Amino acid sequence: MTAALPDAADRLDFPHRHLLGIEDLSRDDITLLLDLSDSYADGNRSAWRKLDLLRGHTVINLFFEESTRTRTSFELAAKRLGGDVINIAVQHSAIKKGETLIDTAMTLNAMHADALVVRHPQAGAVHLLAEKVNCSVVNAGDGSHEHPTQALLDALTIRRHKKRLEGLEVAICGDIAHSRVARSNIYLLQAMGARVRVIAPPTLLPPAIDRLGVEVFTDMRAGLAGVDIVMMLRLQRERMQGTYVPSVREYFRYWGLDYEKLAYAKPDALIMHPGPMNRGVEIDTAVADDIDRSLIREQVEMGVAVRMACLDVLTRHAGHRAN
Ligand code: NCD
Repeated sequence: MTAALPDAADRLDFPHRHLLGIEDLSRDDITLLLDLSDSYADGNRSAWRKLDLLRGHTVINLFFEESTRTRTSFELAAKRLGGDVINIAVQHSAIKKGETLIDTAMTLNAMHADALVVRHPQAGAVHLLAEKVNCSVVNAGDGSHEHPTQALLDALTIRRHKKRLEGLEVAICGDIAHSRVARSNIYLLQAMGARVRVIAPPTLLPPAIDRLGVEVFTDMRAGLAGVDIVMMLRLQRERMQGTYVPSVREYFRYWGLDYEKLAYAKPDALIMHPGPMNRGVEIDTAVADDIDRSLIREQVEMGVAVRMACLDVLTRHAGHRAN
C-alpha cells in the first residue's frame, strides 16, 4: 500500500501542531496542504483508496454543533488513511461551557487520542481546548470565527478548475457576518494572491469588514461584475438574534443568485456553496444544479481529500513539535 503514497508526502514540512485557523498559516503552509490534498483527490478517484498511514492512530470527532457533511468527511478521511475514528456529539444546551470543555480535555487526554477534530458554537473554544489536550487539534468550525478545512477545500476546488488562485476575482456573497467560512476564505484567498469582494445586505456585514482588505458591495450586480468565482453563503439563522433580513422572498430577490445576476460575472465564472444550501433563499435551484457552472458537489469531494491531507500532516509529521 505504501507504493500509493502521494508524492507530496516526501517533502512535508508543516510547522504547526494544530490547525486552528487559516490566519495562522503562511502561503507555503497553504501550498503544501493544497498540493498534498491534490494528490489525495486523485488517489480517491483511482483504485487505491485505503492507506495505512494512520494505522494505530485514533481520531476523535468532537462535535458540539450539528453537522453531517463535515463530520462524515473527517470520518471518511481518517478511515481512508487507516485510522480508527470515534464520534462524540455533545448536546450544547446540556453543558456548562468553560468547565465542561476542560473536563472534556482531561478525559480525552486520558484516552491518548492522536487527533481531535472539534466543532463548537463559540469562537475561541477550539483554541482553548487545543491548549489543554496533548494531541493535535483541527478546528472544524468555531462559531463565526474560522473553518479552515472548508477554505482549503474551496481553494483546492478552485485551483483544480482555474489552475491558479493568484489574480482571481472572488465574490463571497450573503451572510458574511455570521460566517466562519467567509472569514477563513478571505484569509486564504488573499494569502494566495486572489482578490476578494464581499456582497451582502448592510445588516449582514460585520462591522470591521473593510479591515480585512476586501472590497465591500451591498448590490449583487455591481459586486458580481467581472468575477471569476461566485461563492454563496447560507443564511445562518441559528446565529441571528433578531431580524436581519426583511423576508426570505425579498432576500432572494436582492441577494439570491439566479441566472440574471450571474450574467454580470465573467462568462466562465464558477459557482460555489459550502452547504447546506437553502434553495430559493440564497441560491436558485437551477443555478445550484448547473453542471457546467456549479462546483458544489465537487467541493464535497475535495473536502475528503483536504481532510486526509490535514490529518496526515498533523498526526504523522508535526505531533511532536511546538505550535
Ligand atoms: C458551513 C459551516 O458549518 O460553517 N457548512 C459546512 O461546514 N459544511 C457553512 C454553513 O453551515 O452554512
